[in-house]
Amino acid sequence: MQIPTIALNNGITLPAIGFGTWPLKSQACTKAVSTAIEKGYRLIDTAAKYDNEAAIGKAIKQTKIAREDLFVTSKVRGSEHGYTKTINAFQHTLKDLQLDYLDLYLIHWPLPSKDLYVETWQALITLYNNGLVRAIGTSNFKIAHLSRIIDETGVIPAVNQIQLSPYLPQQEIRHWLKQYHIICQDWSPLGKGTELLNDIRIRQLAHKHQKTPAQIVLRWHIQLGNSVIPKTSTPNRMVENLDIFNFALDKDDMLLISTINQHSAPKQDPDTYIEE
Ligand SMILES: NC(=O)c1ccc[n+]([C@@H]2O[C@H](COP(=O)([O-])OP(=O)(O)OC[C@H]3O[C@@H](n4cnc5c(N)ncnc54)[C@H](OP(=O)(O)O)[C@@H]3O)[C@@H](O)[C@H]2O)c1
Repeated sequence: MQIPTIALNNGITLPAIGFGTWPLKSQACTKAVSTAIEKGYRLIDTAAKYDNEAAIGKAIKQTKIAREDLFVTSKVRGSEHGYTKTINAFQHTLKDLQLDYLDLYLIHWPLPSKDLYVETWQALITLYNNGLVRAIGTSNFKIAHLSRIIDETGVIPAVNQIQLSPYLPQQEIRHWLKQYHIICQDWSPLGKGTELLNDIRIRQLAHKHQKTPAQIVLRWHIQLGNSVIPKTSTPNRMVENLDIFNFALDKDDMLLISTINQHSAPKQDPDTYIEE
């Protein structure tokens, strides 16, 4: 099955759906990523913080899929903010993944209390200019953080990866990102697989379209124009989560899902959350 792609602001393409790898570790992670690639996933999302880059490196090494057909994302962790530390952290990430370039490198959290995210962004720009990464972006950045890095460096991120689901639709930042052609990539897109998938409104839409609640939710993300990275360790669910390109939600379905919003803000506020 061919997964649709989304064009980034530098012309390269990002698979619309990828495989989330947190909190997978060690052999279980290698196994899950190998299975995900076998089932058709080409985008693998990791982060230095997840402590699973070496395990993912093993799965990538074992696959018969060509490197250029995979899309590997990682993220610089909070304790490595700063120009030189980030350049070194990137090299560590490449080594663990057994790769010589990354497809996408993100700043994991802005950590405004450290006030090093602009410097960290400058390091990502250097890595990009040196051809070590095909696209650079941010994660958990709010509009103010994004505005600041754009104003101070003139370089617009290709992607901002944020927590987003029907329970946390993030409407304001979504619209802002669209204006700058920054692709919104949604983490915890299934709301971590808990109440959201049992929500009666989602279940009714699943019945209407003869799909599962997870497929309804993932299709909503895709029709917003976003990229999604659901995680599952279950092979059947890996297939289920990819099987979302043979039906469409109508305008009323989209509106309904977009307005079941239960939380106005993420639990981990990027203005104060300390990720090390
Ligand atoms: N940038 C960031 O700061 C950040 C933060 C958090 C996460 N992330 C990334 O986003 C990825 C996804 O987020 P997440 O893992 O928090 O949440 P998620 O993908 O919304 O939900 C994962 C949970 O949903 C279950 N699930 C998956 N597919 C399902 C299906 N078809 N039906 C029913 N349940 C299903 C999984 O269970 P099983 O595994 O048991 O199937 C798992 O417990 C992470 O893996 C990570 O790569 C990024």
